[in-house]
Amino acid sequence: MINKIQQLTLEIEQLQLTNETELENYRLEYLSKKGKIGALMDDFRTVPNEQKKEVGALINVLKTKAQELFDVAKENLENTVDVTTNVDYTRSVAEHQVGARHPLSIVRNEILDVFNRIGFNVSDGPEVEDDWHNFSALNFPPEHPARDMQDTFFIKDAPNMALRTHTSSIQVRVMEGGQLPIRTISPGRVYRNEAVSARAHCQFHQVEGLYIDKGVSFADLKQTLLYFSKELYGTNTKIRLRPSYFPFTEPSMEMDISCPFCAAKGCNICKGTGWVEILGCGMVDPQVLDNCGIDSKVYSGFAFGMGIERITMLKYQVNDLRLFFENDVRFINQFKNA
Ligand code: DAH
Repeated sequence: MINKIQQLTLEIEQLQLTNETELENYRLEYLSKKGKIGALMDDFRTVPNEQKKEVGALINVLKTKAQELFDVAKENLENTVDVTTNVDYTRSVAEHQVGARHPLSIVRNEILDVFNRIGFNVSDGPEVEDDWHNFSALNFPPEHPARDMQDTFFIKDAPNMALRTHTSSIQVRVMEGGQLPIRTISPGRVYRNEAVSARAHCQFHQVEGLYIDKGVSFADLKQTLLYFSKELYGTNTKIRLRPSYFPFTEPSMEMDISCPFCAAKGCNICKGTGWVEILGCGMVDPQVLDNCGIDSKVYSGFAFGMGIERITMLKYQVNDLRLFFENDVRFINQFKNA
């Protein structure tokens, strides 16, 4: 019996297992239940009791060794490239389907880039906002229609909280942060209680801009917005400001750019006027500065806010707001090279 074990040990040590067939034959011949090592186990029953311990140990060593040989040979085979198979290395690569960035992300990043280049940092704030940051600090009087349930999503059981209706709330947070001067741009999602249609949605995105320092003037606002418009819509773009009203700026304006589709000649997008509105802006109301702990006798500033959807629709001629929120890949994939 002991001889047999030694013989088998020698036998397996001399084997060369260089392909799948040899490996499988080895498994059947030695490792399977009916194989040579299995047969030893049958013989083991006939070994006299006093030798069982010694013989049993030897069989175990052989078994382990045989399994090890198998495992090593198998691993070697798996790691070897078989150069004899018919692999065509010159075959062209199958195209990997990559996704596309969402158009709103593309345009948001572009806006952030344009302002980063003139020293604006990026700031952020919560989407569930309190009355102070969304309304009161920004001079919204208590009876202002935006505070109406019809316009704002309030949070049930938390009368002081709402989904922010604009990113101007972030202005307040940055100003309260107390670090001056401020040159910041704040992108984010906002919510309004509106019926969903091609032109309105209950959620959309805005970018807010804020510049506060000593001696910031209306001329700075105009130059900044002119630079922005030319960067985004091309160097021939013109801007015009129309008087408007926002509670948190004085004076307040809306800004139009010359229609990017018809070179201001008049088309159906600009409704024949040659101009399209893209943002609201103004000089920060001194009362707002004071509300946020900034001395309005020393500091002044300008602010502006725009809807990213609107900017994107004008840039890529998207005619239905709902497309931005459906995540239909047929829509998104059109922006692969944008
Ligand atoms: N918050 C305004 C809105 O939701 C947009 C806006 C207008 C922001 C004028 C500003 C601003 O910072 O100065 O429509």
